[in-house]
Amino acid sequence: MDEKELIELKKDTIILAHNYQTPDIQAIADFVGDSLQLCQQAARVDKPYILFCGVDFMAESAVMLNPDKTVLMPDLGSKCPMAAMLPAERVREEKAMHPDAAVVLYINTWVEARAESDVTCTSANAVKIVKALPQRKILFGPDANLAWHVQKNLPKKEVVPIPYKGHCRVHVRFKKDDLLSLIAEHPDAEVLIHPECRPEVQEIADLILSTGGMERHVRQSKARKFIIGTETGLIYKLKQQNPGKEFIPALSSAVCVNMKKHTIDKVLTELREKKNVVKVDPALARRARKSLERMLELS
Ligand code: 13P
Ligand code: SF4
Repeated sequence: MDEKELIELKKDTIILAHNYQTPDIQAIADFVGDSLQLCQQAARVDKPYILFCGVDFMAESAVMLNPDKTVLMPDLGSKCPMAAMLPAERVREEKAMHPDAAVVLYINTWVEARAESDVTCTSANAVKIVKALPQRKILFGPDANLAWHVQKNLPKKEVVPIPYKGHCRVHVRFKKDDLLSLIAEHPDAEVLIHPECRPEVQEIADLILSTGGMERHVRQSKARKFIIGTETGLIYKLKQQNPGKEFIPALSSAVCVNMKKHTIDKVLTELREKKNVVKVDPALARRARKSLERMLELS
């Protein structure tokens, strides 16, 4: 496809892409960011179509924020497996057992479960959101490692992970010993780790950050070298923005196959055909939207 055709096809469509998308998709996207930034962008779209290059929960959030727009995905099979770890029924059971607790659900959760929550969060704002709530006890899910990070930062709160061991299959593969070896090899590197990593990995990081937080930090840091503890897709963007700096993946095989179901060919086909419409039950969407809007207010 030539540049002219691409411009023509994008007249009625905005392309939003997550930081883990491949370089060719990032290059033609209108905005590339983390889950929170993508929600904030989705709330401001002024075109009738949003082509979302990210996993299901992100595109569904865009649908909730834009009931009058059409949200498309290059591949409707791009789903985050962590979301399946917390069905709505489990949230209802936990609420009945802890009636004094607020329910904070990571955005990586099915819409039906999010409809049961008081407020949604992302890795960028989880600590801020929990801190802002008046309740001491917080039911937090599905990521138990992010729950650990929140608890560590807010010792006066009682953060109860639901389920007990919810996790991201990509980020739990980062190992403490591998990271310690990398740090020994590159003692001058700053170590940036995503809060979906295990506690023992988080404990040896210089900073725990969302992918958008890593991007901001690298831009203003005086360090020249960084060990990046998240999916490797982010490194493309970091290199583009910081040509003089060096980036070492904490785990070079950390690739989210679900995010990578989108390809540039599928993006271009979808721009032309507009067939893969993301659908969310309107009644559930209205309930889950309240939790999402509360997050945007508190962010
Ligand atoms: P971010 O919001 O930090 O980009 O994380 C999204 C995600 O799915 C991490 O695996
Ligand atoms: Fe889900 Fe993990 Fe992939 Fe993020 S990296 S979309 S949390 S499976």
